[in-house]
Amino acid sequence: MAREVFNSKMGAIAAAAGSAVGLGNIWRFPYVLGENGGGAFLFVYILFTFLIAVPILLSELAIGRRAGKPVLGAFKALAPGTKWHLIGYSGVFCAFLILSFYAIVSGWTLLYAYRAVVGELAAISPDEMTTLYNHTSSDPVVSIIWMFAFIGLTAFVVMRGVQDGIEKYSKILMPMLLLLIVLLCIRALTLPGALDGLAFLLKPDFSKLTFTGIFEALGQAFFSLSIGMGTMTTYGSYISRKQNLVSGGFSIAGLDFMIAFLAAVIIFPCAFSFGISPGQGPGLVFVTLPNIFNQIFMGRAVSIVFFVLLSVAALTSTISLLEVVVSFLVSERGFRRKPASLLVAGLIGLLGCLCAFSSTIFSLFDNISANILLPGGALFIVLFIPHVLGKEAFRSELEACGTRQRVFGVFYFVIKYIVPVAVGGVLIYQIVNWLIG
Ligand code: TRP
Repeated sequence: MAREVFNSKMGAIAAAAGSAVGLGNIWRFPYVLGENGGGAFLFVYILFTFLIAVPILLSELAIGRRAGKPVLGAFKALAPGTKWHLIGYSGVFCAFLILSFYAIVSGWTLLYAYRAVVGELAAISPDEMTTLYNHTSSDPVVSIIWMFAFIGLTAFVVMRGVQDGIEKYSKILMPMLLLLIVLLCIRALTLPGALDGLAFLLKPDFSKLTFTGIFEALGQAFFSLSIGMGTMTTYGSYISRKQNLVSGGFSIAGLDFMIAFLAAVIIFPCAFSFGISPGQGPGLVFVTLPNIFNQIFMGRAVSIVFFVLLSVAALTSTISLLEVVVSFLVSERGFRRKPASLLVAGLIGLLGCLCAFSSTIFSLFDNISANILLPGGALFIVLFIPHVLGKEAFRSELEACGTRQRVFGVFYFVIKYIVPVAVGGVLIYQIVNWLIG
């Protein structure tokens, strides 16, 4: 993000929340939870979000604000002459991978908004809804067309550097999305059989939780909060020193968790009520939600609004991802913003085509980025705090707003010992598992 494009009035904290809240909450979280057996996964996810991911989020924000520079520059400024800035390169690579499959799903969201407008989703049975999704996801041409539409939209915004305008809209649209989600929760919970879905979500059955499930909960927590690749470091550099980073970080995580949780409160009752398998994978949101629209007053209008709002939520996230790559080319490689945006958008479109043609590649990119690259990046970011930035500098960042952090000692202990051991342990286990499996 070139520094001049992002002095949004609503504040960088809210912009960071816009990056965090997206398809990760409404599409990815429910499907990964469904694949991993429900309640026990939720329990571990909450633990990881608040104990592991929030400290990393605060580390990223603090590093960015301390340096006053986007990710690559931040590490170069704080640790000159070292290799720490390689975190930035891994972030750029990771942004490419995430965008390639994320743009496909974003394209489907747009397509479903269109289908809602023309009435294609109205009055079709749950089985037909599943068939419709299967047709969509196995038709690369359709996926590619809508993906390019979405990438075009993202590139258009990033190219013009008008994030300000987008943030202004999302300030109104995000609360609307939240409100709509709450209303849908109420309807979902009154469906016949809804309680089975709720039990699936809330009753932890730890016998269903595998090590892979634990590992995916960690990856999902990172993915959902946009941490581990420098997006939040970049955002941190825009936050004023008057802002309280700690309360800001917790608000972002709280909001992000609430939206993911409420999405699940809609989706699982709906799945159980309509006889859809909760573990069916990436199509889950697309085959469950439209059914509920057919059961409510003014359902068609509601479905249009829902998919449009979801597309906007996805857009604020894709903007933050594309910006990572574009700002790298602009500030490190001397590109101009417009050609850089078009070039990167084009390359991502090509990678996206691979994901459209092969669900194996789609899942591979999804897995590698969330479960390997983000935890890997996060591990180095969190090691940076005690080993380079130092305890006092970190404390002074967190307390810059004038509020003393009374539990700083505990918090620092968590960052120095608990987080690296947990993330490192999970990561090593998974890599070994891959190599031998
Ligand atoms: N967090 C976003 C979501 O939940 C996706 C996202 C945006 C992201 N920027 C990111 C994920 C950076 C990882 C890293 O939809």
